[in-house]
Amino acid sequence: MCGIVGYIGYRDAYPIIVKGLQRLEYRGYDSAGIALFDGEEINLSKTKGKVDDLKKKAEGSISLKGNLGIGHTRWATHGAPNDVNSHPHYSNSGDLVIIHNGIIENYDAIKKELINRGYVFSSDTDTEVLVNLIEEVKRKENVKLGHAVQIALNQVVGAYAIAVIDKQKPDEIVVAKLGSPLAIGIGEKEFFVASDASPFIEYTNNAVYLEDEEMAIIRLGKEIKLRKIKDNSIAYPSIQELQLNLEEIEKGGFEHFMLKEIYEQPRAILDTYRGRLLAKEGLIRMAGIDENLEKFLNANRIIIVACGTSWHAGLVAEYIFEDLARIPVEVEYASEFRYRNPVVTENDVLIAISQSGETADTLAAIKLAKEKGAFVFGVCNVVGSSIARETDAGAYTHAGPEIGVASTKAFTTQITVLTLLALKLAKAKGVFNNTRFHEYLTELEQIPAKVEEVLLTNPLVEIIADVYKDSPNCLYLGRGYNFPVALEGALKLKEISYIHAEGYPAAEMKHGPIALIDEHMPVVVIATSKGHYEKIVSNIQEIKSRKGKIIAVVTKGDVQVRELADHVIEVPETLENLTPLLTTIPLQLLSYHIAVMRGCNVDQPRNLAKSVTVE
Ligand code: G6P
Repeated sequence: MCGIVGYIGYRDAYPIIVKGLQRLEYRGYDSAGIALFDGEEINLSKTKGKVDDLKKKAEGSISLKGNLGIGHTRWATHGAPNDVNSHPHYSNSGDLVIIHNGIIENYDAIKKELINRGYVFSSDTDTEVLVNLIEEVKRKENVKLGHAVQIALNQVVGAYAIAVIDKQKPDEIVVAKLGSPLAIGIGEKEFFVASDASPFIEYTNNAVYLEDEEMAIIRLGKEIKLRKIKDNSIAYPSIQELQLNLEEIEKGGFEHFMLKEIYEQPRAILDTYRGRLLAKEGLIRMAGIDENLEKFLNANRIIIVACGTSWHAGLVAEYIFEDLARIPVEVEYASEFRYRNPVVTENDVLIAISQSGETADTLAAIKLAKEKGAFVFGVCNVVGSSIARETDAGAYTHAGPEIGVASTKAFTTQITVLTLLALKLAKAKGVFNNTRFHEYLTELEQIPAKVEEVLLTNPLVEIIADVYKDSPNCLYLGRGYNFPVALEGALKLKEISYIHAEGYPAAEMKHGPIALIDEHMPVVVIATSKGHYEKIVSNIQEIKSRKGKIIAVVTKGDVQVRELADHVIEVPETLENLTPLLTTIPLQLLSYHIAVMRGCNVDQPRNLAKSVTVE
């Protein structure tokens, strides 16, 4: 969480940093700050609130001059989100200034020691402790900034992506990384630093992604120097060409990123299977799987770890893998898996699902599984992310950048990748014959067009949203493949509209949630024609007889549910295993419209961040 940006070069740093911070606001947005170095003074402005609030404050209060600067957008961990705790932080002398994404776990002990040596602290943050530790090392050891950063980082426990500047060094930024992402953009006579490449995409296509425990001294007019923090050995930067383009990270006429991303799903799903699904040849080609097919085929079981929406995609995958490929699957929250001493052997395959590829718990679960000898496969969206690099093999979802904090296209493209994998295994294991395999491939090819059709229900969904926008609670029910969809629908509503919502397997309703149903309770039921249809119709009857309000997602042409439900949203018919790719869409739209009608900040809901790089 938290976004960091830095610039050193010949342009004005201020507009570059402000625009960069706005692009990184998905990483945290409870406070923001900037420090600009004009060669003599480091001028700093910071505030609780968004980058827009920072602009208002900075533009009236400090000199905006300087070709060197650093900026930060925060998701609070240590210390409340207020002006004082916002980054950047000065050291006691005022010479050093730092921005930090991550957590310094042993900050308290270091702080006490520094207080004993006369340091004073104005904030509650771990970051202010780190910048003063660097200052103390620099003073005591009489070393330059880069060296002091390195020595200090060897004393801290935790995670960080930091950028530090020094009043004595008007041509230098020192950066370092462990556990939080950090990219360096390399331009002509200028350098950029950021949590991801989006802040500098219009200036350069060349970037270096720091590895964990690496630091860089970025000096104007010099090549960047990379070092290992532990032993000071030289690391050699590998410069990558960025694939990102500006259009992808802008709203493109939509009111919100979330709506744009919902509407991008037909294209995103197509991009995800393009070149992989070869229906005519009767083939699925995916390098990460082809090269490791035996590992999957010989696996005792597949363990899936993920968080949030990605965990829901994992649940859908469990149904698909067991149903199609007949391989046992367990799905775990990464945060539980890593701390519960799980039994993992070298005969297990672990699949880690993550949009950002940076989620701290998922990353830790991967490391644990690798230590125990399991083969680890990643399903990530962000190319070159930490999880993509840490896994033994993997497959990208080609969803393009997802900026709205509530995940939408990441979910459907994760399911697409996992379906391709399951189909490939089903074929390789001989569970599927050619005819069945072909039937699936051709149907999967139809999904983007069918998603387009579902998107046409948007005006109807908006009308339904208007009816229920003031409900304090909402239940989501589904069976089989649509049970994880119910969980995902409820999560979307909670995340962006702050309405309390619960997802349940429809049959479990009788064991508790039914007590909540009265004439005020909206219940979203996913009741597609394939898979336990009659059973779910009975569940709908049970809701109706308790006067609950029923919003049903049904298969086109449905008659039975239409008679019972208050509102009906139709989706096209498809194979049962592929229904989540369609039924999820109206639930995304429903939560979107309700949140907009309630005046909520859809793309940046309170307390959340898109990339959770702390435990
Ligand atoms: C955060 C985001 C969610 C996301 C989850 C997992 O909570 O707000 O939208 O599903 O992290 O993120 P990942 O990047 O690992 O999929």
